[in-house]
Amino acid sequence: MAKSKPAVGLDIGSSSVKLVQLKEKRGGHQLLAFGTAPLPPEAIVDGALMNSAAIVQAIQEVFAQQKVKAKEVAIGVRGHSVIIKKISLPRMTQEELDESIQWEAEQYIPFDVKDVNIDTQILTPDGDAAGQMDVLLVAAKKDMINDYTSVCAEAGLTATVVDVDAFAVQNAFEANYEPGANDTVVIVNVGAAVSNLNVVTRGVTTFTRDITMGGNAFTEEIQKQLNISYDEAEALKVGGQGDSDAVVPQEVERVIQGVAEQLGGEIQRSLDFYTSTTPDGKITRAILSGGTARIPALFKTLEARAGVPVEILNPFKNIEIDNKKFDPAVLLAAAPAAAVSVGLALRRPGDK
Ligand SMILES: Nc1ncnc2c1ncn2[C@@H]1O[C@H](COP(=O)(O)OP(=O)(O)OP(=O)(O)O)[C@@H](O)[C@H]1O
Ligand SMILES: [Mg+2]
Repeated sequence: MAKSKPAVGLDIGSSSVKLVQLKEKRGGHQLLAFGTAPLPPEAIVDGALMNSAAIVQAIQEVFAQQKVKAKEVAIGVRGHSVIIKKISLPRMTQEELDESIQWEAEQYIPFDVKDVNIDTQILTPDGDAAGQMDVLLVAAKKDMINDYTSVCAEAGLTATVVDVDAFAVQNAFEANYEPGANDTVVIVNVGAAVSNLNVVTRGVTTFTRDITMGGNAFTEEIQKQLNISYDEAEALKVGGQGDSDAVVPQEVERVIQGVAEQLGGEIQRSLDFYTSTTPDGKITRAILSGGTARIPALFKTLEARAGVPVEILNPFKNIEIDNKKFDPAVLLAAAPAAAVSVGLALRRPGDK
């Protein structure tokens, strides 16, 4: 049987475009290409594309830089144009669900059903005693998907897979880690503008939420408190991490600590909501990804607040890497931010 080739994972994030190309090998994957290209501020706001020309340019730049010839890409979306909900419906087959979901979905989403693409996954096919089953409903605005596929088209590419960022990270996690049968894992992907939460038990999502706060909040607060430019603030924020020789002014450290507490509080509120609304909803493990995962204060805050072991996601952990082609230190530093793009690169057209 001919294998379908995986598409190139293309994460159009609000701070940068990230590309990952994998090759399928017996029992796993090999890294063929990994690259990033920065985007100007405000090119993407709350998941909406505000500056298509800059995005097209960044996509073309990263493809040229990595000399990737493939034209099919898997992309991810996020933000308020994407609704993910667990709903309860009378037990039925996936086929019956596909036929009826257009009518059912109306009451669960704040948009006109005609304006969204709807996807469903039956979580409990056997149903409960009352004959009800849990269904994961994903609705994404057609307009927004169209904007994303259009920038790809303008860059000479075809988007064959459109996924949701939170699910791409989950995919990257599952390909590299083996959670225990009784583990309930919260995956926290903290990017520049957004943090995606995804609670997963035995491979199934039971709760998701996007918090509109990420790495930008740290930079903005440093800028404000120290009365310096955004770029200077960003440099101070990034410069202090992972390099023990770097001198980070105590002031910066203090601001970072404060924002980490604030973001940690937001995350905790979401997790408290999950726990209080889900019977047996006890989280046993936390996984942190996204570029902002590299802020140690955030890691520590999450550990203290969630009260469970926290680990930084390395989406390349199980992927075969040619050390002559990729510098392991560079790859490890970029790893948390590569979670979405690796997860997308693992997708095949037609996957759920
Ligand atoms: N070493 C570092 N220390 C602290 N923050 C960092 C470091 N490296 C990157 N970041 C931050 O990570 C963020 C980018 O992360 P990521 O690439 O995951 O976001 P994105 O996908 O572009 O954005 P989003 O998902 O929010 O749309 C930026 O805010 C950046 O400042
Ligand atoms: Mg992102």
